[in-house]
Amino acid sequence: MSMQLPQRVKIVEVGPRDGLQNEPEVVPAEIKIGLIDRLTDAGLPMIEATSFVSPKWVPRMADAAQVMAGIRRKAGVGYPVLVPNMKGLEGALAANAEEVAVFAAATETFSQRNTNCSIAESFERFKPVIETALAHGLKVRGYISVALVCPYEGEVDAQAVVPVARQLYDMGCYEISLGDTTGAATPGKTQQLIEALARHVPVNKLAGHFHDTYGQALANILASLQMGVAVFDSSVSGLGGCPYSPGATGNVATEDVLYMLDGLGIETGVSMQQLLVASEFICGFLRRPSVSRAGRALLAKRRRAAQAAA
Ligand code: HMG
Ligand code: MG
Repeated sequence: MSMQLPQRVKIVEVGPRDGLQNEPEVVPAEIKIGLIDRLTDAGLPMIEATSFVSPKWVPRMADAAQVMAGIRRKAGVGYPVLVPNMKGLEGALAANAEEVAVFAAATETFSQRNTNCSIAESFERFKPVIETALAHGLKVRGYISVALVCPYEGEVDAQAVVPVARQLYDMGCYEISLGDTTGAATPGKTQQLIEALARHVPVNKLAGHFHDTYGQALANILASLQMGVAVFDSSVSGLGGCPYSPGATGNVATEDVLYMLDGLGIETGVSMQQLLVASEFICGFLRRPSVSRAGRALLAKRRRAAQAAA
């Protein structure tokens, strides 16, 4: 391929949080812990473990403290947790989290639906959260939901995303993850957004968070790689969706992202074989197949090889 792509990419595994927050079935804390430990074994450098949000809003994350207490933390691996407010940060600090993520939105309607406040109010909330987190030596990541398309307001103009990204960055977020919450964005629009943001925030501070509802996520990742973005969020087996984005399916599957990056010769440090172990573990519990195309193909190939050897 002629274009210059990053030589190394950081994959941020968000399955245990973004994936399981929306799961209809109750997933006990010990299963979440088993999943996170297997993801650690797969070599993922960052695993978003849970969120300290209101259990009235997202009941599936009510066991955040238990999950954080149970996981095996490997040195050098980040286990960020989502926090919407000071109460969430207090929970994260009590759980010895070393990294938190705040989440903003690019549209007013989504901000209200997801966090019950306007965009401006969300920044008022973040101010003490980020200040206190940084004062405690925590790292803070920032998300922007509906950075491309909003389920309530439709197409989002890149210029509306710029001030949100700027503020998160100026307030001390070390990385801004751009959420295609609905999974409806296409590569041209993705590149326009990155181009607009890169004038205000260094491109190496941007991450892509693509849901795969319309099957566009890998194309959006490749388009982002071409623009110099080298951090992508993904979810093992393509688990998940957002409770405030009706009809949106899970994040792009980590197996699919890894297969593409491996093929491009881009380093990630992640082992596909071990990732498939994590995938089989959670899909076995949920009693449904992975939605990862690469994952399914690799498992089918493995089964065929085992049958041929038998
Ligand atoms: P609110 O109802 O306005 O807040 O919700 P409140 O302060 O009035 O609190 C309501 C109740 O929740 C109170 O309990 C609080 O104590 C409790 P009560 O007194 O009634 O018994 N509460 C909490 N409990 C535990 N931890 C907390 C917490 N905060 C309040 N941190 C609030 C406002 C922000 C809290 C609520 O809207 C909320 O929790 N929202 C989170 C929604 C969420 O988690 N969405 C999914 C994650 S974002 C996402 O998926 C997008 C992303 O993947 C990127 C993308 O794809 O776009 C990141
Ligand atoms: Mg998401």
